Amino acid sequence: MYRTHTCGQLRIQDQSKTVTLAGWVQTIRKFGAITFVDLRDRYGITQLLFGEELTLQLEQNPLGREFVLQATGLVKERSNKNPNIPTGEVEINVSDFVVLNKSVVPPFTIQDDTDGGDDIRMKYRYLDLRRNTVKKNLELRYAVNRAARNYLHQQGFMDIETPFLIKSTPEGARDFVVPSRMNPGQFYALPQSPQTFKQLLMISGYDRYYQIVKCFRDEDLRADRQPEFTQIDCEMAFVEQEDILNMFEGMVKAIFKEVKGIDYIEKVERISWEHAMWNYGNDKPDIRFEMKVLNLKKPSSVYINKKDRHDLITGAGFKVFDNAETVLAIAVPGCSEYSRKQTDELTEWVKRPQIGMGGLGYIKCNADGSFKSSMDKFFNEEKLKEIAAASHAAPGDLILVLADAEEKTRKAISELRLEMAERLGLRKKDEFKLLWVLDFPLFEYDVEENRWVARHHPFTSPKPSDIATMINNIPVIENPAEYLKHPYANIKANAYDMVLNGNEVGGGSIRIYQRELQEKMFEALGMTKEESLHKFGFLLGAFEYGAPPHGGIAFGFDRLCAILGGSESIRDFIAFPKNNSGRDVMLDAPSTIDEKQLNELQIRLDPKR
Ligand code: AMO
Repeated sequence: MYRTHTCGQLRIQDQSKTVTLAGWVQTIRKFGAITFVDLRDRYGITQLLFGEELTLQLEQNPLGREFVLQATGLVKERSNKNPNIPTGEVEINVSDFVVLNKSVVPPFTIQDDTDGGDDIRMKYRYLDLRRNTVKKNLELRYAVNRAARNYLHQQGFMDIETPFLIKSTPEGARDFVVPSRMNPGQFYALPQSPQTFKQLLMISGYDRYYQIVKCFRDEDLRADRQPEFTQIDCEMAFVEQEDILNMFEGMVKAIFKEVKGIDYIEKVERISWEHAMWNYGNDKPDIRFEMKVLNLKKPSSVYINKKDRHDLITGAGFKVFDNAETVLAIAVPGCSEYSRKQTDELTEWVKRPQIGMGGLGYIKCNADGSFKSSMDKFFNEEKLKEIAAASHAAPGDLILVLADAEEKTRKAISELRLEMAERLGLRKKDEFKLLWVLDFPLFEYDVEENRWVARHHPFTSPKPSDIATMINNIPVIENPAEYLKHPYANIKANAYDMVLNGNEVGGGSIRIYQRELQEKMFEALGMTKEESLHKFGFLLGAFEYGAPPHGGIAFGFDRLCAILGGSESIRDFIAFPKNNSGRDVMLDAPSTIDEKQLNELQIRLDPKR
């Protein structure tokens, strides 16, 4: 037997027991004739005491960091207790020990605040995984996994595996493809998600399906995106949107309870996509704080009070505003006393290439009710007061104004909103705010390709009230610049996203389940009949054998874990992640393959590339 206890197990009550521990050497401290060694395993750290005789032995054959050690001895009370660790009251008076394996000096220290940078830690990820902080993340991930499974099992969901070697399923990203030796010249695609399979399972009658499953997407990577990531993928038959929202609100709340001990009892707020875009500038708003966006030029949204709905800024002679398609503002609480230096710095911030704005206007709403603005020349006190009122600014607030093309300005103001909230400490890691965003547009117009694309995916159904618009119009657009005038631009989808603290953690939809409508959808996306049959003949055929109404959702499992763990980066919550170029630096993958493999696959590389 290698061990009687783990390194996290022993307490003062275990005094006088003879025990054997096995683990890794964390630290070695020699005090005169005796030596202390901290022994670590997955469960904790226990102090070992090597007396004079054994210390002499150690001098002959020194231990080193990360040696694998087995030690037997008597548990005794420590004279110098460590209240910071659960085993801190005891130590093992070692009588016997065996070095089970040696270690070379690790390239970074295996401790919470390691001296290792990102690259080196990823190269030696198996060492990085020994660190407590990383281990905690993986433990949290496992807890989320268990909580989701338990909930879904209780609700009658069945975990069914679906294949990885499939045919391409377009979900917006590029596919990873796999050549087939047995079918030369032909390729599998790795699933971007099990979307079509889960729909087929509904047709097969498995009316509650789930899977915690790997998905593969060849897309540009960010902190919250990996080329292979995991979804909690779910589908239900005989449901409407409301059923799905309730079921999965329940799942996320069960995860909160189980993993964080949080009773998220309030009903998750629901807003429409349009509301989100108008009020926050993006479709995944962080609602832990207000700071809503106001459109100063055309506040025509139904969500803005009628009295505030007129152009507040055009015609004052300020060219930047007069010429801009959109002028958006936020009122930042309590920042009216920003100095010139601070507003200059903010201006530089919005001018950075990532944001790309030409400048930043501001109005200081002073505590005494007066105003000071970078646009004083064009707007008198009365006007500034009006803008401040429309922006819901209070005395003491700083109104920040951006002007340019609509989409660009929306993006910029929502980034600025998050930045200001970050600076003000309003994005607290231990506060969680869920949100459903509903009623997304069904289509987006891809100006480059000059065609409609599905905003969610091609299997998402339009709102029942919009089906006629979809069927009765042809998708062709004469003038791409005027695509917003096409009736398709207004079709809403039966789709929903779950947003947590400003991150899209899940998305899904009620699906199309009739062949005719699905064919119309493919046509709308610019596919010929032949193309849609070639790509999706299996699904169209299956719809003819009694497809039930169905819908589902998939949660970004890694994202959910990262947010619950208070991190921006999902990499921290994946045992063996890829870097930002999609590389596994530990394996050094992707890599070349040898000539023989290439020949078998009948693949020839282009020597000019
Ligand atoms: P969608 O593409 O919205 O929907 O994906 C669902 C959720 O998966 C997460 N996610 C990612 N996480 C990490 N890295 C990535 N590259 C990545 N891409 C997506 C997000 C997202 O909300 N089949 C549909 C679901 C459905 O309709 O049921 C789908 O995959 O958190």
